[in-house]
Amino acid sequence: MGTQEKAATQAAERKILVIDDDRVIQVTLAGWLGRHGFRVSAASTAAAGLAALAREEPDVVLLDLGLPDAGGLETLNEIHARQPQAAVIIVTAQDSLDNAIESIKRGAFHFISKPYVPEELLSLVRRAAEKRELVRETAHLRNRAELLSRRLEEAQQQLQPGCSNGVMKEVDALIRRVAPSDSNVFLIGESGVGKEVMANRIHRLSRRSDRTMIRLNCAAFPANLIEGELFGYVKGAFTGAVADFPGMIAQAEGGTLFLDEIVEMPADLQTRFLRVLQEREFRALGSTRTVQADFRLIAATNRPVADAVRDGLLRRDLYYRINTFQIEIPPLRERKEDIPALVTAFLNQFACRLGKPPPQIAPEAFARLASYDWPGNIRELQNAIEYGVVLACGGRITEKELPKELFSPTPSATPEGGTLNLDTLERNAILLALGKTSGNKKKAAQLLGIHRPTLYSKMKRHRIPP
Ligand SMILES: Nc1ncnc2c1ncn2[C@@H]1O[C@H](COP(=O)(O)OP(=O)(O)OP(=O)(O)O)[C@@H](O)[C@H]1O
Ligand SMILES: [Mg+2]
Repeated sequence: MGTQEKAATQAAERKILVIDDDRVIQVTLAGWLGRHGFRVSAASTAAAGLAALAREEPDVVLLDLGLPDAGGLETLNEIHARQPQAAVIIVTAQDSLDNAIESIKRGAFHFISKPYVPEELLSLVRRAAEKRELVRETAHLRNRAELLSRRLEEAQQQLQPGCSNGVMKEVDALIRRVAPSDSNVFLIGESGVGKEVMANRIHRLSRRSDRTMIRLNCAAFPANLIEGELFGYVKGAFTGAVADFPGMIAQAEGGTLFLDEIVEMPADLQTRFLRVLQEREFRALGSTRTVQADFRLIAATNRPVADAVRDGLLRRDLYYRINTFQIEIPPLRERKEDIPALVTAFLNQFACRLGKPPPQIAPEAFARLASYDWPGNIRELQNAIEYGVVLACGGRITEKELPKELFSPTPSATPEGGTLNLDTLERNAILLALGKTSGNKKKAAQLLGIHRPTLYSKMKRHRIPP
């Protein structure tokens, strides 16, 4: 449908409801507005008007304030309550200007005094209908934006492999079970393993998903500033508090509060925060008002928790409180079978960003990716692939297009503290072969010089998913 055609149809669909006990006015307006492309219905009383409102869902209501059965302002309130989008134009007698002004204060679109000039009324009705159209379009755009962002999230979720092996399947199953429960979750794992990604996933799968998840990285603020960030403050609470600031707790209201690097939170603040968790209320700095706190807590740390508690970095009482569900995300070197899927996802991601087709990875380069220990975990892998995609020439990433660090031995590269563990070597060899053959078992078995059933039984023993 062309734009003009569409505009004409929309104009024809614009509905006007006239609530006026004067039959002559009803008929005149129906004729006049009808000729200008509006669909008019009419009611003589407030009760009939409200019934018509529900039935017709008009874009614009012309409301006479002097109705026989109810006060005009009360009727206006009712209209707003039942159909907040409808634009209401108040029609008054000359002597009730006060009421007209009051009705504007209560949200009427405009008012016009009787007797009115028809052209003036028509222009008002048109403006009101346009405003209604704008509101409708905005709502439509907002819905579309929400739909698109949901689609994007779903696409990103599909882009998130990392759940293919036994360990990650368990982590994912736990996340699915814990997410809807509203319990505190403590995510533990080395830097770059995907704690934030998991926190987002928990939030998305929770019953708070329609609200936001607010993240506060306790390591990103000097100790004296975290308190204000978390609790908020009122203007003048301290030097530099030039305006009120709703803290992260308030911003996470109804949603999720993700406290990253919680171990970095100063000890006295840990005590204060524990109190919020227990009492479910808090006060902004400099404020005397106690406010309810309704958030779901997800905390995270990349430090070994037992050490942090032992060293007094994380208060034991807070630890017990936030540790309702502890989810440990294993480092990438312990789930190397996730590497191929992650590599594919990142290849697509960066190629798409650069607007070129995803490059191929040469077998030796892939072997390096599959055997490297990734001390920086998924983040490091992601960076390496970005590096490769940018440098790829002729649609191929060879060893030359991978970061140099991947070729220098990392401390953890030698398995089991320096001794060569046969089991680990076998597992890595299988993973390597599967990686090289893009998961083709027949070819992988050939590469390893074993029969396919042997490969299957070894995969099972090493908990490598088929
Ligand atoms: N399953 C996954 N699929 C795709 N990308 C992932 C996945 N997990 C993590 N990533 C990516 O890896 C990077 C690191 O993830 P994230 O920030 O969640 O890690 P983290 O554990 O919070 O790290 P840190 O402790 O350093 O904050 C991010 O860019 C993220 O997009
Ligand atoms: Mg993080």
